[in-house]
Amino acid sequence: MVRRLKERFEKKFDEEIRFFKGMMQGPKLVGAIVPTSSITAKKMASIINPNSGLPVLELGPGTGVITKAILARGVPAEKLVSVEYSEDFCSHLTMTYPGVNFIHGDAFDLDRTLGALAGQKFDSVISAVPLLNFPMQDRIRLLESLLDRLPPGRPVVQISYGPVSPIIAKPHSYHIQHFDFVVRNIPPAQLWIYRRA
Ligand SMILES: C[S@@+](CC[C@H](N)C(=O)[O-])C[C@H]1O[C@@H](n2cnc3c(N)ncnc32)[C@H](O)[C@@H]1O
Repeated sequence: MVRRLKERFEKKFDEEIRFFKGMMQGPKLVGAIVPTSSITAKKMASIINPNSGLPVLELGPGTGVITKAILARGVPAEKLVSVEYSEDFCSHLTMTYPGVNFIHGDAFDLDRTLGALAGQKFDSVISAVPLLNFPMQDRIRLLESLLDRLPPGRPVVQISYGPVSPIIAKPHSYHIQHFDFVVRNIPPAQLWIYRRA
């Protein structure tokens, strides 16, 4: 029992050190000081329909907290495609979550990054890319490209730390829903859902 607790503690600590190192190497890219809390990750994964038969697309998995919640939601590893920009995070994730299709690449250039999967429809998108560090035009372009890969009405969920949606409204193109404000996260996190009108 004590050994198991010690192992769990060491694993969590290891994850936080890995995240911190990533943050020191690319603060703008990582965009947070510690990994997302498991409560937030679970809430984000709750939007997935594990019975849709379609794969799920994750953006910016980092050390894998949200990846873990997506798998716990009942998505088989081979039905998860996850795009990560950092090579370090990517190789660690590949070892930790065997079977998941981790793609090392840029979420803002999905056609190229997804390669053979560029025309694939997904059930939903779970995104933790630090949108606030990118220009608004890029954020809108990313969202449009994500919504084009989903069946009508299916959601993109995005974590962010500002008081308002990180993507401006375009009611003729998509709807924005404030999904949750999670206080048990460092810093407290806002969750936003975007869907095609
Ligand atoms: C705030 S961290 C979130 C990490 C993890 N999902 C979590 O919630 O703890 C942002 C992640 O997005 C990745 N990222 C940043 N820009 C990216 C891009 N253009 N394409 C793919 N991943 C990106 C970073 O490397 C980092 O892993």
